[in-house]
Amino acid sequence: MGIFNKLIVSVLPLIPKFIVGFFSRKYIAGATLEKAIEKISEFNRNGIMATIDILGEEIEIREDALLVVNEYKQVLAAIEKNGLDANVSIKPTHLGLKIDKTFCYENIQIIVEEAQKYNNFVRIDMEDHTCTSDTLDIFFNLKKQYSNVGIVIQAYLRRTIDDLTRLVKEKSNLRLCKGIYVEPRSEAYKDLTIINDNFKYSLEKLLGAGCYVGIATHDEKLVWHALSIIDKLKLSKTEYEFQMLLGVTEELRDILVSAGHRMRIYVPYGEHWHAYSMRRLKENPNLATSIIKNIFKKG
Ligand code: FDA
Repeated sequence: MGIFNKLIVSVLPLIPKFIVGFFSRKYIAGATLEKAIEKISEFNRNGIMATIDILGEEIEIREDALLVVNEYKQVLAAIEKNGLDANVSIKPTHLGLKIDKTFCYENIQIIVEEAQKYNNFVRIDMEDHTCTSDTLDIFFNLKKQYSNVGIVIQAYLRRTIDDLTRLVKEKSNLRLCKGIYVEPRSEAYKDLTIINDNFKYSLEKLLGAGCYVGIATHDEKLVWHALSIIDKLKLSKTEYEFQMLLGVTEELRDILVSAGHRMRIYVPYGEHWHAYSMRRLKENPNLATSIIKNIFKKG
């Protein structure tokens, strides 16, 4: 990241919430489930699948985590009722991981069971490195009992290369992404070339072993690499899917959809949009630059 972009990122917390909100509209379906349903109906009409994320993380009170469990039940019911091609993505700290691991496990289990009733699927998002071991433990335990659960693996983590061994052995359903949290160098690669190489290495290993992979990237070089592996392994279009975030690289998304690849869009909704938006903005300082420019324009 250049010095200017670093500077931009450092002043992000000073940007008024309503301005962040204005520029985040593209990345978030809205504050309510109805808004997410509307967005997904539109995607489905265009042959695009979705995964719904209720915005929020780092819950500290048990009752709040239970409210989230209930909200996910409502999301699953709404998917069923509206006949949508969508599943759900959940974050362990949103379901009490930082309160108690067993409590979190039980909460996720309720959601997985509810999804199973509807023949639906639950993806467990991966948060920062302090959550990785617990999240993998929860996933592997659930996997013993349920087949409708998947996990996420991050190419920037140094441990990923080792984690792959078990994930491959258990033929896990994975989403592979670069990783979005700001991590210490002891835990994560900082060199983008290494992160990309690790993404390619992991993808080849997973697809080669017959794992179903959600290839989550907007990076066209990685998309090309994925297509080359898919071709080399002669995979059918039902053996993987591409995944992108709502509002990002829509042109590349449509190119892949037109070519007949399965595409799933991550659709976040909810009241807690600020933390999510700030992460997206930190990740893409060019967007932040345009916000700052707009502030100056307004001035
Ligand atoms: P990269 O960041 O290099 O972006 C490639 C190009 O895409 C950029 O040059 C730019 O054009 C465009 N782009 C990327 N982000 C943009 C943005 N915000 N706005 C506008 N343009 C943008 N991470 C994690 O740690 N845990 C998780 O569970 C998930 N889950 C997840 C689900 C899905 C469906 C996706 C697509 C991504 C995630 N991520 C994630 C985030 C992921 O780790 C990563 O940070 C982002 O996808 C950005 O990485 P890219 O591979 O897109 O490359």
